[in-house]
Amino acid sequence: MEKKNIATRRAHCLVLAYPAYGHINPMLQLSKVLLREGVRVTFVTTIFYANIVQKVPPPITLETISDGFDEVGYTGAASHKEYTEKFCEVGSLTFAELLEKHGRSEDDRVDCVIYDSFFPWALDVAKRFEIVSAAYLTQNMTVNSIYYHAQMGKLQVPLKQDEISLPTLPKLQPQDLPTFFLTYEKQPFLLPFLLDQFSNINKADWILCNTLYDMDKEIVDGFKEIWPKFRCIGPNIPSFFLDEQYEDDQDYGVTELKRDECIEWLDDKPKDSVVYVSFGSIASFEKEQMEEIACCLKECSHYFLWVVRKSEEANLPKGFEKKTEKGFVVTWCSQLKVLAHEAIGCFVTHCGWNSTLETLCLGVPTIAIPFWSDQSTNAKLMEDVWKMGIRAPFDEKKVVRREALKHCIREIMENEKGNELKNNANQWRTLAVKAVKSGGSSHKSILEFVNSFFH
Ligand code: UDX
Repeated sequence: MEKKNIATRRAHCLVLAYPAYGHINPMLQLSKVLLREGVRVTFVTTIFYANIVQKVPPPITLETISDGFDEVGYTGAASHKEYTEKFCEVGSLTFAELLEKHGRSEDDRVDCVIYDSFFPWALDVAKRFEIVSAAYLTQNMTVNSIYYHAQMGKLQVPLKQDEISLPTLPKLQPQDLPTFFLTYEKQPFLLPFLLDQFSNINKADWILCNTLYDMDKEIVDGFKEIWPKFRCIGPNIPSFFLDEQYEDDQDYGVTELKRDECIEWLDDKPKDSVVYVSFGSIASFEKEQMEEIACCLKECSHYFLWVVRKSEEANLPKGFEKKTEKGFVVTWCSQLKVLAHEAIGCFVTHCGWNSTLETLCLGVPTIAIPFWSDQSTNAKLMEDVWKMGIRAPFDEKKVVRREALKHCIREIMENEKGNELKNNANQWRTLAVKAVKSGGSSHKSILEFVNSFFH
């Protein structure tokens, strides 16, 4: 087949997202950025998740691969190990079929695959087709660096040391590491799954991360020596909430709701008066923890808006009222719109990386109750490095008690500490806006990446 000069047709990127909100959301935002820079984008996820997403902002098109569990997704597998192994096997085949289909016509040919780094096999498939490949890291650079060094054998598990020293990172305690290092003996499969992201990444043509250079300068400079084509291109958040270059860009993809009752409820509330509580799309706290949070919110003197997903509702205390003048419990909200609302005074968060970036970009101080995975590392960074939040203390049963949480809420909502954290968060916001604006570090990296297809 004769190859057309790429300058005469639009470059075509295929963006392959892991099937979870925390991965699909930022990759959809990245897709919109590419689109604005003139790239044609095909967005790909699993058949099961495509049914949840339903549509992507046109002219981005949505296509699917199979994880082997098309009807029910992840819950169809007996274990994470079974899911991942099946996904690797069926995903590789169906991804290859997709690339083959697009390769049949010159206009449709894929010029670059951007794959979620949770799929190292996607890089191998793209390489077989000789397609330029970019790994997309959905977690932050400290977390990536910890996993990378562990993959290189620089961090042994089970952990032996009380303090962890890794190049360019602050000193870390074991409890600051991603939880899979601590739960390794109980769940030996999860850590190798995360480490595997870095097993073949050196073969990727580009490595992109959803962060901004200013947040992780030293780590990024260190990685640029290992991976010359490593770039920070975030935060991947709708323009409306950041640089406002595209005022109509508020859509956060899968999380967008038709009508937002929360915003109507917040509209009545005074500035900085509401505590927003949400633990992302996966965290599932025990009944005891939910009860402590519920009692804290009921007893403390501030308004609250609490997202309790449908699957978690059974863990609410019996008779807990879902809508009163003081509090509102919803099953989902448009988190960015909520965080951008001036009534919000602080965010009680599990510290998923997207929630962390979103609260930072909207200048809202945080109280961290990390649940698992990268969240304990993000919580440590929020408090000690970015200084825009505080960690709620766990007791010996690993539960945050109501009095401890009330104390944290008072610290932020009533004391000078709250203003200090808010000011720090706002300084990060300023840097994030600068990074994505025309001429900013993330924008320049995107242009460099996109322009590379035209040579
Ligand atoms: C997962 C992991 O758990 C997390 O640790 C990792 O960093 C990313 O992948 P998740 O737990 O869902 O993500 O948390 P987070 O990264 O914060 O992503 C949740 C997304 O859902 C955010 O974009 C948030 O804005 C959105 N959301 C959440 C809503 O839009 N509405 C809600 O009510 C709750």
